[in-house]
Amino acid sequence: MEASYKRLIDGNRKYSLKKKFDDPEYFKKLSLGQKPEYLWIGCSDSRVPANEVTGTKSGEIFVHRNIANIVVHTDMNLMSVVEYAVEFLKIKHIIVCGHYGCGGVRAAFSNKTHGVVDSWLRNIKEVYHKHYKELEAIADIEQRIDRLTELNVIEQVRNLAKTKIVQRAWQDRTLQIHGWVYGMNNGLIKELNTMYDEALDIEPIFRYEL
Ligand code: CO
Repeated sequence: MEASYKRLIDGNRKYSLKKKFDDPEYFKKLSLGQKPEYLWIGCSDSRVPANEVTGTKSGEIFVHRNIANIVVHTDMNLMSVVEYAVEFLKIKHIIVCGHYGCGGVRAAFSNKTHGVVDSWLRNIKEVYHKHYKELEAIADIEQRIDRLTELNVIEQVRNLAKTKIVQRAWQDRTLQIHGWVYGMNNGLIKELNTMYDEALDIEPIFRYEL
């Protein structure tokens, strides 16, 4: 077996043994079902694993990841995840987690083409365009990209608040949407000042009559 591939199978065997050694009932308990309180919408980047950076375990976070943590209303994959998490799992918090040093944000910032992902990253160019005055007032390019990373998260939090799924949940229970940016260089999460927890948080045009 090819070594880099075999490493994963071996790692899995060790993982299973260790878990069973620590708690013989571990897998039996997990297989009974999941009751996560959090939905994580993060970047596909291999360096930002939801459980690891939050010190949580299997079963605690329902996860969706895509390039540059974007929330698009016509994305059936993402919307299915959000609907299931909100309506069936009744999760209490949705977290949109971007990260500094995001290749997707950097690619969107540039004028180069990168293939199929160009149309996906167009969403971030729209974020840039919406906030270009603030962004272009930042002279340092790296700082400007960092701010675009933050604004992208804020816009994706807003996009979630605009969905019927979230607004329906707000009618009869508490559901908070948070925006975070993970710092690759120090492992710390920065909470952005952007918590949404009621329909009044978004402009009237986006509010549904439910
Ligand atoms: Co990224």
